[in-house]
Amino acid sequence: MLGYVTASTETSQNTADTIPVGGGGPRSGLRAAKRGRGLRVLAVAAAGLAGLLAAVIALDLGGAVDVEAVPGLSAADPAVTWAAGLLKYAYDLAMLAAVGCTIAAACFLPGRADARVRLSAQSWRWLRVGAAASGLWAAVALVSLPVDFANTFARPLSGVTLPGLWSYIAQYEQGRALGLTVLLAGAAAVAAARAFTIPGAALAAVLALAAAVPPVFTGHSASNGNHQIAVDGLLIHIVAAAFWAGGLFALFIARKDPAVAARRYSAAAAFAYPAVAASGLIVFVANVAFSDLWASAYGRIALAKLAVLAVGGVLGWAHRRRTLPAVAAGSRRAFNQLAAVELALMAVAFGLASSLSVTPPPAEELPDPNTALLGFPTPEPITLARLLTDWYPSVLFCTAALAATGFYIAGVVRLRRRGDTWAWYRTALWIGGWAVIVLTTSTGLGKYGMVLFSAHMVQHMALNMLAPILLVLAAPVTLALRALKPDRAGGPREWLLAALHSKWSSFISRPLIALLIYLTSLYLMYFTGMFEWAMRSHFGHLFMTAHFLAAGSLFFWVVIGPDPKPRPLSYPAKVLLYFVSIVFHAIFGVTLMMGTTLIADGWYTQIAVPWVADLLADQRAGGGIAWGFGEIPSLIIIVVLIGQWARSEEREGRRLDRMAERAAASGHPEDDPHEVYNAYLASLDQERR
Ligand code: HEM
Repeated sequence: MLGYVTASTETSQNTADTIPVGGGGPRSGLRAAKRGRGLRVLAVAAAGLAGLLAAVIALDLGGAVDVEAVPGLSAADPAVTWAAGLLKYAYDLAMLAAVGCTIAAACFLPGRADARVRLSAQSWRWLRVGAAASGLWAAVALVSLPVDFANTFARPLSGVTLPGLWSYIAQYEQGRALGLTVLLAGAAAVAAARAFTIPGAALAAVLALAAAVPPVFTGHSASNGNHQIAVDGLLIHIVAAAFWAGGLFALFIARKDPAVAARRYSAAAAFAYPAVAASGLIVFVANVAFSDLWASAYGRIALAKLAVLAVGGVLGWAHRRRTLPAVAAGSRRAFNQLAAVELALMAVAFGLASSLSVTPPPAEELPDPNTALLGFPTPEPITLARLLTDWYPSVLFCTAALAATGFYIAGVVRLRRRGDTWAWYRTALWIGGWAVIVLTTSTGLGKYGMVLFSAHMVQHMALNMLAPILLVLAAPVTLALRALKPDRAGGPREWLLAALHSKWSSFISRPLIALLIYLTSLYLMYFTGMFEWAMRSHFGHLFMTAHFLAAGSLFFWVVIGPDPKPRPLSYPAKVLLYFVSIVFHAIFGVTLMMGTTLIADGWYTQIAVPWVADLLADQRAGGGIAWGFGEIPSLIIIVVLIGQWARSEEREGRRLDRMAERAAASGHPEDDPHEVYNAYLASLDQERR
């Protein structure tokens, strides 16, 4: 019997229990618990049906299943189109349950991020549901492969062959993305099924989130004129929606400790809700004109989602006002009732969303052929004014900047409220670092970086050197450790400490490993085919930008970061490490300046920007920038290192003086470090004579 016999047991605050092994308890309580579970299963089934109904109506009214016969072309089989639309709904539901339950197991209840400490019973149960949902998700994605293939190529299902299917997976983005989701969702299922600890649950959650990503780079958003903005927006949209709906689902099926989990979920849901709203609108206006919101079937489905979102917001507010306090007080009834309605609403939103993703948006005339490649029309000849004013926001990096700056300032405010101080220049450095990232990725530089190698190299240097230097000098880890509240049972602060002390962070923060990662981003990216891949695929471009930032931040964290590190380095070693990196940077720059072959020539010749006369000359200019740009950060690094070194010497000096004073006060000159040192020098002198 699994340790819950009466209704009150369900609200026990005790999170310390491990994996359940037995049971027992008063019969009536057991019946009540069983009835409660039965009602919740019914509510989940009802929500699923409500979503299905919404999906069917939207698929029909939205025109996604209307098959138009085009003379000379075979028409899609309506049954296949319906199957594709409904499978998308099943896919989205399994996704939200998998993402929601694995995240809940890793984060909703306190627990030590220690591989030796087992999960609580409730977290373990979430993982079981997460494993089942991930497995179902992988299966649905697998079944969707032949159906999507048949739907895309207007064939009956019986016309799908294995070689055909294989070429769909190997050669077509949609097929490849679904194939990746099958693998990642399958891996999430295995990880969730085998996990008994918080690190294990966290791995399952990361795999589940990763499984949601590949199809984002292949849908409507990836093929329209604004695809960079639309895809970034959709990425945030799907992750926020999956967490918002999936987290509520996990909370609703929870048998134990709903109060603690509800508190953590609702804190995060307060961010997920506006994220879903804003990103949904961003995706919509990036995909089609705003007026299409009411003028097209595609738009009307999105409008219905907006209505659902508005009602969802009101329910969320009601939760905060009424049901969550009741749950904290031990009564779950009000919460269950409201959550059941909210789950049905979420399922309806997912039903609408899945049909929206297969409903053709209004056709759009692309201004020029490059727009499909770049996500924007070919830019005019480069000028400083256009660099500064012709913005094309990177939704992901702007959102990251907003979130990172917001959390940093919240941390500083918390310290201040506690009466602790935090140096103002650190906050300025943090904001400065993120400003460099936004200016580099979202101003005209973002656009010209796609068509000019030299402009791209300015981006590379700013993201790989300048921004990381400013960010690491802001000591974000120290601020987090000071601002986050300690939680004996295990919370964000303890998870950060566990991550800092993990074997993984101790490995990658080894100075030579950090240097290696830093330099590979230079040589591997440009002297293999990787750069062309990164320029052609939006995922590749995001990966490249994030890698530059992460590799630079790791390297400069090791060299000049004031934060505590698993392996502190001596100052001479830091100076040496940095000089080695400068040498390799210079070699890289000179190699480009002397280069005679065009890097990513397929890309630059395809976009064929009319006002770039000599691509090789532009590449050589990029080499000059790589070589020259290093000078600025080098100056900062040397000044900072000398300053840090001097201060640490001062601190050491003060420490030795204090020891000398204590030794003098206690009458133990042998403890006086200065005396000891002088004695050592005297002994050396003796030996020489
Ligand atoms: C209750 C709130 C919402 C939820 C749970 C939600 C959920 C989702 C999900 C899961 C997808 C991905 C569908 C798929 O590819 O299978 C999606 C796509 C999308 N959502 Fe939402 N959404 C919500 C609200 C909104 C709002 C308010 C808007 C904008 C008005 C919006 C606009 C979009 C657009 C444009 C897409 C892309 C569809 C496509 O591929 O063409 N969503 N949404």
